[in-house]
Amino acid sequence: DCTITVERRFDCARDRALSEVECVERGCCYVPSPESAFGGPPWCFYPVSYPGYRMGPLSPTSRGQKATLSRPTPSYLPRDISTLQLEVMPEDTGRLHLTLKDPSSTRYEVPFVAVSSGRATGMQSRLYDVEFQPDPFGFIVRRRSNGRVLVNTTVAPLLYADQYLQLSTLLASSLVSGLGEHYTHLTLDLNWTSVTLWNRDMAPHSDANLYGSHPFCLVQDGDGHAHGIFLLNSNAMEVSLQPAPALTWVTIGGILDFYIFLGPDPQSVVQQYHQVIGYPMMPPYWSLGFHLCRWGYTSTNATRTVVQRMHQAQFPLDVQWNDLDYADKRRVFTFDPKRFGDLPEMVKEFHQQGIKYVIILDPGISSTSPPGSYKPFEEGERRGVFIKNLTGQMLIGKVWPGATAFPDFTNPDAVSWWEECIRDFHASVSLDGLWIDMNEPASFVQGSVYGCPDTDLENPPYVPDVLGGRLNSGTLCMTSVQGLSAHYNLHNLYGLTEAMATYSALLKVRRSRPFVLSRSSFPGLGRFAAHWTGDVQSDWEQLQYSIPAMLLFGLYGVPLVGADVCGFRGDTSEELCVRWTQLGAFYPFMRNHNDRPNTSQEPYVFGQLAQAAMRSVLMLRYSLLPFLYTLFHYAHTSASTVARPLFLEFPFDPNCQTIDRQFLWGSSLLISPVLEQGALELAAYLPPVTWYSLHNVNSTIMHYAIGQPYHSRGQYLLLPAPLDTINIHVREGHIIPQQVPALTTAASRSNPFLLTVALSTKGWARGELFWDDGDSLDTFEHGDYSYILFIAGQSQVVSEPVKLNRSVQGLVVGEVRVFGVPTPPAGVWANREKVMDFSYCWDTMVSNQSAQI
Ligand code: NOJ
Repeated sequence: DCTITVERRFDCARDRALSEVECVERGCCYVPSPESAFGGPPWCFYPVSYPGYRMGPLSPTSRGQKATLSRPTPSYLPRDISTLQLEVMPEDTGRLHLTLKDPSSTRYEVPFVAVSSGRATGMQSRLYDVEFQPDPFGFIVRRRSNGRVLVNTTVAPLLYADQYLQLSTLLASSLVSGLGEHYTHLTLDLNWTSVTLWNRDMAPHSDANLYGSHPFCLVQDGDGHAHGIFLLNSNAMEVSLQPAPALTWVTIGGILDFYIFLGPDPQSVVQQYHQVIGYPMMPPYWSLGFHLCRWGYTSTNATRTVVQRMHQAQFPLDVQWNDLDYADKRRVFTFDPKRFGDLPEMVKEFHQQGIKYVIILDPGISSTSPPGSYKPFEEGERRGVFIKNLTGQMLIGKVWPGATAFPDFTNPDAVSWWEECIRDFHASVSLDGLWIDMNEPASFVQGSVYGCPDTDLENPPYVPDVLGGRLNSGTLCMTSVQGLSAHYNLHNLYGLTEAMATYSALLKVRRSRPFVLSRSSFPGLGRFAAHWTGDVQSDWEQLQYSIPAMLLFGLYGVPLVGADVCGFRGDTSEELCVRWTQLGAFYPFMRNHNDRPNTSQEPYVFGQLAQAAMRSVLMLRYSLLPFLYTLFHYAHTSASTVARPLFLEFPFDPNCQTIDRQFLWGSSLLISPVLEQGALELAAYLPPVTWYSLHNVNSTIMHYAIGQPYHSRGQYLLLPAPLDTINIHVREGHIIPQQVPALTTAASRSNPFLLTVALSTKGWARGELFWDDGDSLDTFEHGDYSYILFIAGQSQVVSEPVKLNRSVQGLVVGEVRVFGVPTPPAGVWANREKVMDFSYCWDTMVSNQSAQI
């Protein structure tokens, strides 16, 4: 029974290359095909019904059902676990949880991920059916409403050895998104590819494991439906994809802990996933402003000059950053006495100007300072907070300051030591947020300065396809010892645990909403931190890939995300930087950051036209911050996405399935940036509703004004996009709360509001505003906020305060503009008073009135 269509052949020689004889000895099929010598279908594959585990009878448990699985014959792997316990837990109508564990000895399981228990549900309301094949063991999950098979693991054997766990499944479609962090499109390529999940300090490029690991994917399974699969496992992992469509998970430790989310629509899948990993934190309002950074602001005076020049050139700036330049001999928690001697004063000055300050922190703590000269290390050593090697000494790696020790954030003593370091430093430099970099963790030597011992953890029988070929490439020894387990198991959690410790330290020290930016990530990071996409190259391709990267992190529960605007590595160009600033103005997290050797890329260094384009889009962003903030409120309280792929909003429109050159903010703003050099127009897809442009365009192709309607049948339109334009469209039926922009959010937050009302063809629209002081902790949880509904219909726009608190005192609506008013109004009244100051535009049917109401 080797007659299996090529696409459905599952690799029987994944663990090592096999000769024909060895393949047949394994009981597998051998069919060489010269075309696929490198990649492509496997030559050695499992026959139909390859022997595996046998499943015993299911018996009830308090959470569902369990069964024992046993293997009558050993597999071809070392240290098979021949008896397994299967537990099946229907945790909610749309959530199924399955675990496979070793009943006779406890294996490592992922800590910290905030698994909510769900609500046990009756059979009738479940969106799924599960069916088991007892021998060889496999399971099938069906969508009950249409009978569609979403998961089918009977196609290849389950393997479960100490350091090699493997499970394959057929997929319901080829539209698979996730399994990051990689340099990919929004949907993955299933043509015999694989992705490796192993956190690594590596500039984004294709086919490489990057900074974070997210073993979650969302599959669009047809008819507007989607489901999700999450493997809660933090070991080095490889996921192979093949055109069947199918995928194979291989992980080299831990347990198999699967969650299947049934949606049925894609947005519900995201919510169900976030219920497991935790909803994102509510960011401080200021963190939605513009951030400016560079490795190479070499002194306080250089940093001050940047802020001054931004101000002189009238660019908004909310947050000024310093990279490692500030640190004395690159040691964190110190500042260079010569070049940054007046750092505390500089930060105070920024605060007086309404500007916040963030600095970088690397986890590597210099271990070679003269005795008595570097308290963070000495105190850390005294309290035993650093990761140890197998023989109990401190593990020493190498990062920017030279030899370094690494705090073990799974050790509560390290967490309190870290908090003290931050408290002490904050007592002199009153920073507002922290940027935790190099936290994969990165090291410039393999494993440690003394190498690593030769054990099964350092050299496992199978090493997933990690960059550098060894697990300890660019990081610590796998055998190194942390409080909860070996680094082998905890590696992918290093950034998450550092983010948790940093978040809680900032919370205690500053007593307001923490802002942490983390490079390394794992499920749950979004509860504590924002993320940027690392060392992107300043080129047009990387500009394009920043959109799927941002959208995917939204699915992963880290909505506050963006790439370094204008690119980090290499010189940017004026045109690229303008286009990147336009796109970046719609990254939820917007920071321009540059590397040391490059030409400058602050907005003020460019020509007047480029500056005008950047200024106008920054002002547009600032005007939209009340809307963006409200979207973050929804992400925080109901796990909806902020920057949203089109398919999430229009799941029934096949044209939207793979679009990742455009995206939405929430459900109502469509962003269509220029992503190509020299382009002055772009083909943008407009899903089949009416859209109104939010910007003016004056180009040789076409002139149009704010409010220009497009009644789309679901089509691509060629839109003008001169250098000063990014196309933004408002969806019919929505009201966008805006505010007159200013150069900081501290200032813009007291400016008059502007309501942009995009009427539906029937003349209706609605929108919402969440408003609080922007900085206090848990305002929603404590009820200390305002929530206002805006409703338009029957020639009226009404604001309905659902909840009011002090935060809205003194705020006014200064202007209302209504898109899609079919005929000029005979008169306009605001709060029963006649308004004289209104205008109507026949071409665009926009009615605009600017009296105070
Ligand atoms: C690597 C980070 O990715 C980059 O953003 C930073 O500038 C350098 N480290 C120096 O700290």
